[in-house]
Amino acid sequence: MVTYAVSNKSDHIFDPAHGMGAFFTAAKRLEKTLKREISLFGSDIDSELIDQIKEAEILDPKDLKNLQTKDFVEIALEKKYKSIVVNPPYIRHHRISQDKKQTLKSLAQKHLGYELDGRAGLHIYFLILSLLSLEKGGRLSFIVSSDICEGVFANDLWQWITKHYRIDAVLTFTGNATPFPGVDTNAIIFFIENSKPKATFSWAKCLVEDRAELLKWVRTNFDINKTNPEKMLSFERSLKEGLKTGFSRLPQTEEHKYTLADFAVAMRGIATGNNDFFLLDLKTVEQFNIPEEYLVPTIGRTRDLVGNVIDEKTLQALDAKGRPRYLLYIDTDNIADLPRSVRNYLEHGEEKGVNKTSLVAARRTWFKMEKRNPPPILFSYLGRRSSRFIHNKAQVLPLNGFLCIYPKNNSKAYIAKLIELLNQEEILKNLFLVGKSYGSDAVKVEPRAIERLPIPERLVQQVGLIP
Ligand SMILES: C[S@@+](CC[C@H](N)C(=O)[O-])C[C@H]1O[C@@H](n2cnc3c(N)ncnc32)[C@H](O)[C@@H]1O
Repeated sequence: MVTYAVSNKSDHIFDPAHGMGAFFTAAKRLEKTLKREISLFGSDIDSELIDQIKEAEILDPKDLKNLQTKDFVEIALEKKYKSIVVNPPYIRHHRISQDKKQTLKSLAQKHLGYELDGRAGLHIYFLILSLLSLEKGGRLSFIVSSDICEGVFANDLWQWITKHYRIDAVLTFTGNATPFPGVDTNAIIFFIENSKPKATFSWAKCLVEDRAELLKWVRTNFDINKTNPEKMLSFERSLKEGLKTGFSRLPQTEEHKYTLADFAVAMRGIATGNNDFFLLDLKTVEQFNIPEEYLVPTIGRTRDLVGNVIDEKTLQALDAKGRPRYLLYIDTDNIADLPRSVRNYLEHGEEKGVNKTSLVAARRTWFKMEKRNPPPILFSYLGRRSSRFIHNKAQVLPLNGFLCIYPKNNSKAYIAKLIELLNQEEILKNLFLVGKSYGSDAVKVEPRAIERLPIPERLVQQVGLIP
């Protein structure tokens, strides 16, 4: 990352969240090869870091004079730099204070011309501010979680970036080569210059951990012909395609005639707000003597399901294991309508403060469950092995670890064919085109996103399904 940032003959780097100075030590190591001095500029909000760097003797004290204990958001735009290298703090939107969020939103409004979606985390603003801090011809290396190109705000953000800056390269990693082992995020590195945008860029995926191979790629100006395909996949991509597919994903040039939306509608499963209370095991059902009409079969955890079918036997097996699989499903606002046994259970919940927990308290009637019809198909997400479509033969109402898939045609034959189609390896792989990827090759897919799942026409014809 430092090699790229200083390859425009720069004599300095700026790291707006320098931490213990990993990029600074890399810059100092590079001086010999570059045959020039690199001075260090940086900020970090943590006031103890500069002393810690001094104590650990990581850097020469004379190199630390341009480091300041400051919030980057407050000092950004005071000065421009020729080379910026960033591993930003990863602070999700709900941990940013309201005041700070407002400042960030106004900043985006001023420079991008619109407010970013409220779900954008601090790292998104770090990217924007880092770009705005580049001199003309300045270079930025930015390592971040790949949700930056997959989240709801991604499209607007990248449209703005690619209109004003030149993306030189994008680097991604397989689980085997991740720069953050053991962390549940999928890292991506952007190499961007403040110059006129180009129609293509170099894109690569590291298959194994190999520093030398990576350095070669950077030093050859991201030459895709110089990489070893066993260690790194590398392509020249069109910006248009990259923007459409998402920079974290492999190039997609194939146009698909069908998506899942042609065959089904998706909704998330039920969010109870408090699974410990609303999801009961057989013992609790018997103990409180809750009548059957107030319970529906449910499934809460992916791990409770083996295989691609859920039927009576699956439910009996869960009872035998003492797993909770009964959802308290109340459809009245009036507690007086309910039998004594159910009221006893609700009172027991109130004693435990269930009605005060956030999502539950936000409901008009705390014990009234959101409504769903049992979906003929469930989709279980997160985790490469557990992502699959499941035939719901037991009329289960799943919780929100699953998606409900409602086929557009309810005949038995149609449902069976659709499940056969959707569970084909080629289609499950397409989940990565629409979902958000996490560490260890897991993927999370929201209802609207799964409806965009590409379905190859050839496979549709093979199973004989007519949309
Ligand atoms: C992921 S670390 C990066 C450290 C270093 N650059 C590295 O790669 O090792 C993020 C750093 O951001 C700092 N930080 C958090 N919020 C900040 C802010 N608003 N302005 C500047 N630094 C911040 C944290 O103190 C932390 O040291």
